[in-house]
Parts: sequence; structure tokens; C-alpha cells
Amino acid sequence: MEVVVVTEYDVLAEVYEWLISDAKLPPAEFAASFDDVLGSLPSNAHVLDCSCGTGQLAVGLAGRGMRVVATDASEAMVRRTAELAAEFGASVQTMRANWEELPEHFEDGTFDLVFCVGNSLHHARGATGRGAALESMSRLLRPGGRLVLTSRTWELVRARGSRLDIRDRLVRRNGRDAVVVYRWDIAPQWDDEHHIEIAIAQVDATGSVRVRSELLSCWPYRYEELEVGLQRVGLRTETSTFDRVSENYTVVASKEQAATS
Ligand SMILES: C[S@@+](CC[C@H](N)C(=O)[O-])C[C@H]1O[C@@H](n2cnc3c(N)ncnc32)[C@H](O)[C@@H]1O
Repeated sequence: MEVVVVTEYDVLAEVYEWLISDAKLPPAEFAASFDDVLGSLPSNAHVLDCSCGTGQLAVGLAGRGMRVVATDASEAMVRRTAELAAEFGASVQTMRANWEELPEHFEDGTFDLVFCVGNSLHHARGATGRGAALESMSRLLRPGGRLVLTSRTWELVRARGSRLDIRDRLVRRNGRDAVVVYRWDIAPQWDDEHHIEIAIAQVDATGSVRVRSELLSCWPYRYEELEVGLQRVGLRTETSTFDRVSENYTVVASKEQAATS
């Protein structure tokens, strides 16, 4: 009997475009949102997107001539990335791999740039899982290479507590409207497992509703904990947009150069 392993995001992968903002749906525009970091790289830089989702960033980077590897824990997400790359005629190497598995597939120091974006890192299991994930990302960077990480501001999310967030506009993708709903299950302690349930309720012209939903686990972290975690694996924060009142932030951290004796 064939055993089918279902990973988180395998269901959402099917309808993930309803969760991506209009601005980031075109691959070139998703990549352009990182122009500040990309500007300092040669156009053939070796880049890894290690939580690639449906591949908009990876395909946008490949469109600039970069050598792109796209990995994700979800097989369905990786499949969608490969399909998007084929649609755009982009060359992207795809592979299903958790963050911790990456060093089994790539030599240390392989990449000039590693992306872990779009609220992914909170899926690492607690401080230990997060440390292991950051360790993998750091190992794969060449000295002087950079990690680009975007994150929710969990300080804000936790302060709001458990709640239902029903988006106030329909989202239209592929000719179909959908209502997007997030249910936040905020645990008492920072270190506890939290949950986000995401539902996409598509409504067709006849009024029938088709729902796809998933319950996702996450382990939030304070900004200070992230900074300490980066330092522990030899990544020095170069720039950070963290601010307690903004929903998201971006951290760019560079891999320390080996000490010369
Ligand atoms: C919120 S989505 C972001 C996807 C994409 N980066 C974006 O910005 O649209 C989070 C992604 O992280 C992936 N993910 C979760 N846990 C992971 C792990 N342990 N290793 C690698 N990827 C993981 C999920 O499968 C999912 O595709």
C-alpha cells in the first residue's frame, strides 16, 4: 500500500495565490521588492529560497539571470514552484527539503544569498528547531553571503490575543472570488505551540462556496530572540526594519568571514 505523507501547506498550496498580495503575485515584482539586497550581487549569483511556497520569488530571481534553487518542506509547494518556473520558462532547481535537511544536499558555503521570507520561520519547532533551521541557512552561505529573512511582528500578534480575522475585501484570482479568514490561537506562553487556521472560501457565480483550510502550527519569537539566534550561528545583522508597531519586518544578516590568523 502506498503511504501518502501529508505535510502542512499541502492543502493550502492548491489555493495559495489567494493569500499572496496583488503586488507580489508577478514574480518580477516579488523579486524587485528585494532590490536593495539584490543590487549588490552579480546577476549570475547563486541563490537559495529555502521556503519557496508557490515560487513567485524564485521564478522572479531566475528571470534576472540568477542561479536559483527553491526548496520547501511541502511537496505540493515544490510542485507548484516547478510548474510556475515552467510557465515562465525560468530555470529553477526545485527540491523538497526541510531546513534541517538542506546540509545533506548542498556543500557548506554554496550560496551567495539565502531567502527565508513570507512568515516561514515561525513554523520551526520552538527555540531548538529555530536554532537548527538558522544553523542550516548559515552553513549554506559563503563567508560574506547574506540571509534575507522576513517575519511577522509577533509582539503585535500576541498582544492582540486569540481572534478571528475575516479579511474585509474579496480576493479575486483565476476568475474566482474568495473570502480569506485567519483564526489566531494564541497560547498563554511565548514558548508554547500556537496555531493559525487559514480558510479560503471561494464563491462561484451560482453562489456555491468551496472551502480549503488548514490548521498550521507555529512557535513565535521575540525580535531579540531572533537577533540572538542569528548571532549564535555566525550571522551578523546588517539591516533591520523591526519596529514594534509595524506588522512585518525584514532582517538582512551577513555570514561572518572566517578569522585569519
Ligand atoms: C507562509 S508560507 C511562505 C511561502 C513563500 N516564502 C512566500 O513568501 O509566499 C511558509 C512556507 O514555509 C514552508 N515551511 C514550513 N516549515 C518548513 C520547514 N521546516 N522547512 C522548510 N520549509 C518550511 C511551508 O511549506 C510554506 O511553503
